[in-house]
Amino acid sequence: MNRLFQLLLLFIHSCVSIHARVWNDTGTGTIVLEEAWTIPELSTQTGALNVSLQDIHNQRLTQMNENGIDYMVLSCASPCIQGISDPATAGAMAVHANNVLASQISNSTHRFGAFAALSMHNASEAAAELKRTVGELGFLGALVNDYQQSGANNDTLIYYDQPEFDVFWQMVTELDVPIYFHPRTNVATISTLLYAHAPWLNSAAQEFAATVSTHILGLCTNGVFDRFPKLKIIVGHLGERIPSDLDRIDTQLLSQLPLGMPMLLNVSTYFRQNLYETTSGNFATPLLRLHKETIGLERILYSIDYPFVNIPSGTAWVNGLDKVLTPKELWYLKRGGAIKLLKLND
Ligand SMILES: *[C@@H]1O[C@H](CO)[C@@H](O)[C@H](O)[C@H]1NC(C)=O
Ligand SMILES: *[C@@H]1O[C@H](CO)[C@@H](O)[C@H](O)[C@H]1NC(C)=O
Ligand SMILES: *[C@@H]1O[C@H](CO)[C@@H](O)[C@H](O)[C@H]1NC(C)=O
Ligand SMILES: *[C@@H]1O[C@H](CO)[C@@H](O)[C@H](O)[C@H]1NC(C)=O
Ligand SMILES: *[C@@H]1O[C@H](CO)[C@@H](O)[C@H](O)[C@H]1NC(C)=O
Ligand SMILES: *[C@@H]1O[C@H](CO)[C@@H](O)[C@H](O)[C@H]1NC(C)=O
Repeated sequence: MNRLFQLLLLFIHSCVSIHARVWNDTGTGTIVLEEAWTIPELSTQTGALNVSLQDIHNQRLTQMNENGIDYMVLSCASPCIQGISDPATAGAMAVHANNVLASQISNSTHRFGAFAALSMHNASEAAAELKRTVGELGFLGALVNDYQQSGANNDTLIYYDQPEFDVFWQMVTELDVPIYFHPRTNVATISTLLYAHAPWLNSAAQEFAATVSTHILGLCTNGVFDRFPKLKIIVGHLGERIPSDLDRIDTQLLSQLPLGMPMLLNVSTYFRQNLYETTSGNFATPLLRLHKETIGLERILYSIDYPFVNIPSGTAWVNGLDKVLTPKELWYLKRGGAIKLLKLND
């Protein structure tokens, strides 16, 4: 009986394992990495979006083929696990979602990769699940949807810029994988206070960037990058507005130094050493030019934000950049930067 059970576990394990990741650098198409997927248990979308989020091998793959996308990194649609306040439920759901994703892409690992979903209630448990998904499932890193909500009323917010998360960042550094910081919709307490007067500003127009940029600047000002100088964090939507405002941010933060701010360098420097941005859902050519100047093109990666943003609009934009970028720069934006950051050739 015991032996049978072991064999069963082994079988289940082999079903979800995608460790033998297939990748080779013979293609010329794009690589995109802020692309959402979900399972029925976690879906908050209705109608066509719900269907698109759960699909991988049908309309998603068809559009990838039609639009020259070689490789797509999938991650669990916001808020995913960050929307689950109960720690035990969150932990179990993260493992489940990761196993389902691994098994769904296991026959197409030359086209699809994955970022893990993580319960962030407990930093050591998050570290352990990251280690499992990278080591056993071949995942390329993780994507967190901003703060972890917690507590009976959902209004305890856990930020990963506190010292108790050092154990998590230590594991991230050891595994040498990037963590993507994706936005989320605020818990009711916050969104009522901030957006009830103008509810149209909920979600992508204002709320997302405003909320997640605070978390990212929290990592900077609390010295996380000083303690973990090799950390790689990816930020979507052309940097959630931060690189457009670096002058003012850096200048104003100087005045916080005498007040005990632990940050040793400045945000501009972290954007050249630790932070990467993608173009997901923000195809603004003038901004791309500015960011190329301020943070450097080697920090910028192409992405779309499917299915919230349609794939052909991304394709039209990125292909039109041949008027703005050299062929080598364009290759880096579309493909080369992702190969390097995700270590696809290693
Ligand atoms: C390289 O990729 C191509 C296209 O995806 C595939 O057909 C081929 O089998 C791959 N080669 C290796 C050695 O993995
Ligand atoms: C999304 O679709 C699944 C079935 O695929 C269904 O179980 C779920 O309730 C739907 N979600 C919403 C919010 O409609
Ligand atoms: C992979 O499996 C899915 C079912 O989970 C199927 O729809 C798809 O066609 C398969 N792809 C390949 C390349 O075999
Ligand atoms: C986090 O999880 C670990 C391992 O399960 C446990 O030892 C530790 O007490 C937990 N920490 C907190 C703050 O609950
Ligand atoms: C807490 O959030 C969950 C989903 O995020 C929701 O279903 C639940 O109603 C919320 N509870 C309270 C007390 O607001
Ligand atoms: C940020 O730090 C870099 C490196 O020390 C420095 O060159 C730059 O002037 C600083 N920027 C601001 C606005 O202080």
